[in-house]
Amino acid sequence: MSSFFAKALALSALAAPAFAAPNSMVKKSQIINTSAKQAAIDLCGTADNVVLYDTPWIVYNMFYGAAGSVGTQCTRYDRVEAPVNSDKKIVWSSETNIEYVKATLVVSFPSTIVKTANDLSSDNVPKGYAFVGLTQNLETTISGINSIPTTYDWSRTNSTAFKGNVCYDFMTSNTKGDSTSSSAQELMLWLQYEGGQLPIGWSDGAKATIGNLFGTSWKLYEGKNDDTGITVHTMMPEKQFEGSFIGDLKEWLEALVQHGTFKESTYVNVGNAGTEYFYGNSNLNATLGLQIDLK
Ligand SMILES: *[C@@H]1O[C@H](CO)[C@@H](O)[C@H](O)[C@H]1NC(C)=O
Ligand SMILES: *[C@@H]1O[C@H](CO)[C@@H](O)[C@H](O)[C@H]1NC(C)=O
Ligand SMILES: *[C@@H]1O[C@H](CO)[C@@H](O)[C@H](O)[C@H]1NC(C)=O
Repeated sequence: MSSFFAKALALSALAAPAFAAPNSMVKKSQIINTSAKQAAIDLCGTADNVVLYDTPWIVYNMFYGAAGSVGTQCTRYDRVEAPVNSDKKIVWSSETNIEYVKATLVVSFPSTIVKTANDLSSDNVPKGYAFVGLTQNLETTISGINSIPTTYDWSRTNSTAFKGNVCYDFMTSNTKGDSTSSSAQELMLWLQYEGGQLPIGWSDGAKATIGNLFGTSWKLYEGKNDDTGITVHTMMPEKQFEGSFIGDLKEWLEALVQHGTFKESTYVNVGNAGTEYFYGNSNLNATLGLQIDLK
């Protein structure tokens, strides 16, 4: 992922004062601070986002590879459901129409860290990330978190070959609020991936097998994102999830504590759920519940 990714996430987590920017300045990156009653809206600019201040969420169209892509990416906020006896859920979707353009350079594994400044539109370069991010109860230590309950239901249709995934992406650091320095850690939990997407660190082989978590076992891959200097820890399931996931993501963080990635005293600074994409005409409809409940 690009450094833009980390910066934008850091900004979103901090609810940046940029919300007050005059209209003339927000064309390329439209930021809306609104309530869950917001009408459905399509976010198609390269960094358009909607903060739903009376929910734990921001909806973000992070099209960081737009300049090198042939095509479009939109993220749609549809609505928030607020059942009487359970946690709120957000209904959203991601539509990609991105042409497959074969790489002209010889690229090497791992796919997500190839250096391609002059070849951004190639098949092997991630183009963006459509996601719902947390805005509440971040910047707390793992030990201060009671649970991170989540439900993620999705369905994808694609009319051309699609390369990308469905995942959670969190950032931790021993420093409160840090999601951009090289001592921050990026944690990915891939639920489903297709089209041959591989994680950073793939060529080094799995660093560990984490058994019996969310009903399957997982391979852990680790490697540095050369763009950001941040080490990415990706867990890939032995058995992919087919459109539905439910769990307490604190168990994921605890599994990484057990592995020695960090201690319980580390801070959870960023957390979100989304879909990464490389190419393809695809439509993902999703309903997500995700929140951090503190002790
Ligand atoms: C968003 O709007 C709400 C309600 O008007 C307000 O309380 C909050 O401070 C706003 N947030 C930002 C970052 O402007
Ligand atoms: C997503 O939702 C839209 C609007 O309800 C619908 O037209 C489309 O078929 C859905 N796509 C998938 C993959 O479920
Ligand atoms: C959807 O994408 C998958 C993965 O790339 C591919 O196997 C499948 O053929 C695609 N479907 C269509 C209709 O192109």
